[in-house]
Amino acid sequence: MIQRDHILRAIKEVPRDHWGVVFLFVLVFSSLGYGLIRSEQKNELLSANIMQLEKQLSITTSVLERSISETHSTLAEELNRERQTVSVIKSDLGNFQQEVGTISSSVDTLEKLNETDPELLQKYSKVYFLSEHYTPERLAAVDKPNLYYEDQPESVHAKMWPHLKELLQSAQTAGVTLWVRSGYRSFDEQTSLKSAYRVQYGSGANTFSADQGYSEHQLGTAVDFITTGLGGNLDGFDTTIAYQWMLTNAHTYGFILSYPQGNSFYVFEPWHWRYVGKELATHLKNTGKSFYDLDQRELDEYLITIF
Ligand code: DAL
Ligand code: ZN
Repeated sequence: MIQRDHILRAIKEVPRDHWGVVFLFVLVFSSLGYGLIRSEQKNELLSANIMQLEKQLSITTSVLERSISETHSTLAEELNRERQTVSVIKSDLGNFQQEVGTISSSVDTLEKLNETDPELLQKYSKVYFLSEHYTPERLAAVDKPNLYYEDQPESVHAKMWPHLKELLQSAQTAGVTLWVRSGYRSFDEQTSLKSAYRVQYGSGANTFSADQGYSEHQLGTAVDFITTGLGGNLDGFDTTIAYQWMLTNAHTYGFILSYPQGNSFYVFEPWHWRYVGKELATHLKNTGKSFYDLDQRELDEYLITIF
């Protein structure tokens, strides 16, 4: 009220010729005030709209986020189910492949066994007999440089030859001289040899020479070795470096000493080695047993690994 009185008094004090200016002044200020009020109202409306929009945006965002999260977990579940299915299929496939592998390896084993001559692990030496018709499935000639008498050809079982050759080469590399004195002998050759020994030694021949049909040499997998310093004789082989080398290494090439000291068949024959395959030879070496100590059933289990 006091302010209004002040204003009215101030107006009355304004000279009449200035009223126009005052009116203009009042008009301008009123317009400005009105403008300000309108703009304030507009701002308020705008703010309210913005708030409304923000609210809606927040609702929409949370709906979207929920929907994304639900979709995500649904997809994750589906992915998990797919993964489980794939893993089941993979494991089925693995089992199937394993079965196929087992079957095919059993077939291979049977085929190999079927192709392997069971005579190769039989006990001869007065125990088991080979007929006069028995010959190895194939023979291979021993290389001339490996023969003691180069003009007297010797042959051995063709599947055994690579192993014998490897042994001879290793010995040579180690600086050890080994020659083949005798390899495969047919039934008839053994007959002649034994007859000749009988003439010379009488029944004493039975202590070092097998009767025809009982010699491991008829298999083609037995070899008599000879070395330097023995004047071409087999006797004394046990005193040589070659024999020591054979004792240490022969099993790794599949060879065993058939007639060790104290065997119940023949005299000690350090020169006579028989091929039985690496596995059996190593087994005998590790257990300190001789071939003839094992049961035939046990020997037969090694037939699959002979070559
Ligand atoms: N010297 C061996 C025993 C053989 O004649 O076969
Ligand atoms: Zn022999």
